[in-house]
Parts: sequence; C-alpha cells; structure tokens
Amino acid sequence: MDAFDLSTLVFVIFSLILTAIVYKRRSSNKTKLPPGSFGWPVIGETIDFLFSNPEKFVSNRMKKYSPDIFKTKIMGEKTAVICGPNGHKFLFSNEEKLFTSFRTHSMQRIFQSYQSNSPSPSPSQSTRVIIRQPGFLKPEALTRYLGEMDLITQELLKSHWEGRNEIKTYPFAKFLTLTLACRFFLGTNNTDRITKLVNYFDDITLGLHAMILNFRGTAFYRANKAAIAVRRELIGVIKEKKEEMANGVKMQDILCYMIVVTDSKGKFMPENEIADKIMGLLVAGYSTVATTITFLMKYVGQRSDIYENILIEQKEIVAAKKPGEVLTWEDMLKMKYSWNVICETMRLTPPLQGTFRQVLTDFTYAGYSIPKGWKVYWTASSTNKNPAYFQNPEQFDPSRYEKRDEPTPYTYVPFGGGPRMCPGKEYARLAILTFLHNVVLKYKWELLAPDEKVVGDMMPTPEKGLPIRLHQH
Ligand code: HEM
Repeated sequence: MDAFDLSTLVFVIFSLILTAIVYKRRSSNKTKLPPGSFGWPVIGETIDFLFSNPEKFVSNRMKKYSPDIFKTKIMGEKTAVICGPNGHKFLFSNEEKLFTSFRTHSMQRIFQSYQSNSPSPSPSQSTRVIIRQPGFLKPEALTRYLGEMDLITQELLKSHWEGRNEIKTYPFAKFLTLTLACRFFLGTNNTDRITKLVNYFDDITLGLHAMILNFRGTAFYRANKAAIAVRRELIGVIKEKKEEMANGVKMQDILCYMIVVTDSKGKFMPENEIADKIMGLLVAGYSTVATTITFLMKYVGQRSDIYENILIEQKEIVAAKKPGEVLTWEDMLKMKYSWNVICETMRLTPPLQGTFRQVLTDFTYAGYSIPKGWKVYWTASSTNKNPAYFQNPEQFDPSRYEKRDEPTPYTYVPFGGGPRMCPGKEYARLAILTFLHNVVLKYKWELLAPDEKVVGDMMPTPEKGLPIRLHQH
C-alpha cells in the first residue's frame, strides 16, 4: 500500500468514527429525557405530590434536578413539570400546537362528559367556548351583575354576621361564592338548594385529584356520589328553567344560553351534558374564589396597617356615592390598593395550584425531549416565591404591584396565561372586591387561630375554617 492509499484509508476511517460520534450524540440528545424520577411502580410519585403539598413537591425537585424542567410520574401519568417564567411563556404560547388540556382520570370519571369518547373537540374546550363566546364573563356583561352582586353580598353579611361575635370565614366564603354563582350562572336564589349544593361541591372538589379507589370511605367515592347528586339537582333546575322559558319568562344566565344553543346540525345539547358543563363551571369558580376570600381575611387580619389602607380607599369610594347606591364598574376601577392586597394574597396562597396538559407531539424544551402522550404540569408556585422575582418573598407586601415595581412577565400568573387563561378572572375580581368593600366598611376582625394549619392538596384549606372575632364599627 503506497503512502497515498494509507492516508486515504486513515481519512475514511477517521471520518466514519467522527460521523458515528456526531450521530450518537445527536440521537442521544433527541431522546434525552428531563432529569427526575418516576418513583415507585404504578403509583409513581403521586403520594408525595398530593400529601407533601404540590408546592413543596415542585420546589424541592426544582432544587434537586433543574429549575427549568423535571420528570415525574403522578396519577398514573409520565409527566414533565415545566417551571419558571420561561416555562410559563413556552406553555402559554404553544396551546393546541404542542399541548392540549388534560383532566386527571378522577376528573374524567367525575365529569362524565369529559370522557374521551365524546365526539366534540374536547369537552373542556367546548365549555370554554360556551362561556367565552357569548361574553357572559366579559366586563360588559359583568357590569350588569355588579349591583346585584353587591346587594346579595350585603344581605348575606347581614344574615350571617350581624349580631355575632365569632364566625368561621371559610364556610361563609363558600356559601357566598356558591350563592353568587347560582344566581348568575343558573339564575336561582333558592337558599335550600344552595346549602345542599355547598356540601356536594366540597366533596367533588376534594375528589378531583384523588386516586381512583372507588369504595365507601374514599375521597373518590364521595366525589362520585356527590357529582351524581349535583347532576340530579341541576337537571331539576334545567327542567324548571325550560318550563319558565316556555311560559315566556325572559332570562339572561349561562344556563338559559346552554338550553337554547344548537350545534351545527341544529341539535340541542342533552340535559345531562348541560348539567355537567354547569357543574364544571361551578367547580372552577367555587373553591378558587372562596379560598382567596378566606386567605385575604387571614392576611389582612394579621396586618392592621394594611386593613387601614383598604378602609381609607373604600371610604373614599363611598364618599363619592349617593347613600345606598350600589357598586359600579367605575368604583371597581378605583379599588387599586384593595386589588393589590388580593393579588398578594394569591401570590402567597395560589387558590389553584396548577393544571395539566397532554403532549400532542414530541418536542424539546431546555435541551430535553418530551415525548408525545406524556403529560405536562405547570404551577404558579414555580415562580411565586422565588426571591429573584419577588424580594423578601415571604413578606406580605401589596406595594409590589404598584406601577414602577410590577412583577416581571410570566412570574405572577395566578390565573394562567395565553388562550387558556382563566375565563372567570374578571368575575372573580368583582366578587372578591365587592366582598372586601362591604366587610371593611362594617367590620374589623381578629384571627382566633392565627397558627391554624393549612391542609388540602391542590386547594389550600385552613384546618379550622379560619375562625375570627368580629368588631362592628
Ligand atoms: C380567584 C379565583 C380564580 C383563580 C385564581 C382561577 C385560576 C385559574 C387557573 C390557574 C386556571 C387554569 C388555566 C390553565 O389551565 O392554564 C383556570 C381555568 C379556568 N377557570 Fe379559573 N380561576 C378563578 C376563578 C374562576 C371563576 C370565578 C370561574 C367561573 C366563573 C372560573 C372558570 C374557569 C374555567 C372554566 C377554566 C378552564 C379554562 C380552560 O380549560 O380553558 N375560574 N382558572
């Protein structure tokens, strides 16, 4: 072999080795799954996720594996948890391209119309379309509700708080929230019906993320039973409503719209599907608002300086109104400090921990591959308490939201973002501000169990219901 042949051979061998190395590296990069652990066989890390508190679950793993992404297995699903502001941005910008919404298996079983054999695009999507399109929850429609929302809140405070020294905040907040929701979504004021629904909704909410163990005594069993009872009750409401509509009574609530709306073939929605959609809406809007109200009372109850600032703002609003005049949209816009206090409450205690998506196609994020069929989980708490975005994160400080100091984009997302952002955001804002307005004008309060434990998995709950002592002005 002459010198030329030898150098060609060496060159060819060298090129082949190089190509093999590059190919191997590329293909291993392609399938490089995020760091993390799938935990135990079958149950994965579900127990840790639910019982060690989802917020701690995420922050511990962000420290251990990566601040951007880690893998886990929860509720039977291989899941990538996408974290931090970049993760939020990526998720909110790729809805229906890389991901679609995913309800846990327990949710699918509790909400029958969420089951995957439904021919509609995605049942949660159609609920979303229904409540977004006719603009029921848009500011123009909400302006119409506002006066009534104010009057109902005043009435309930009168009947449940007046003349009492002590009350439990959480049960009251739930009753108020459900009363408002029943009025505006179902068009009903029936108190007995609402009291019955509160108990059922508590069971449903607790079962939404429970493991599917369907026997007496389990959270899932109770949730399923409660959902059957709620569906029965709602079908009763639908029938009454149809009768009233047939008699020419004019109504404007979401339920009426669902009764008259038809699909592209002119078919009406079946009653059980309407019931399920209304139930979904009530569940989404019930405990989130009640939890925010409850923790708002807790944080403000601990800080008389903040209470006084809210009172000054609310007194100014009253001073500009005629006696007895109900709240208006313009009044809401003036409640800037009060809203900042509510935002700070949701930062420290996000009422909804996070939600899941289903991966539609393989994709890469932060250098890791996430295969089609996996689930993605995101949570507001991957940024909420990070000192890089919120100085002294444990401190309750409503001034953070003042103009100059606004949080950096995608770090504060209690309502989510992008096309899936909570459609009830404005409604929630009005309901909570209306409550705060009426409460501070009449009462000051002190916490009776300031060190009360917070329990609950995806929805934080004060163990004793946040008992308070009331002092009427
Ligand atoms: C303080 C109160 C509330 C908070 C913090 C909150 C938060 C959220 C969050 C984080 C999501 C998930 C978005 C995602 O998956 O990316 C969501 C979805 C949703 N919320 Fe709210 N929410 C609140 C009140 C309400 C109310 C009052 C209603 C109903 C009137 C409501 C209806 C919904 C619905 C229907 C969805 C599902 C949207 C979809 O899948 O596209 N929420 N909410």
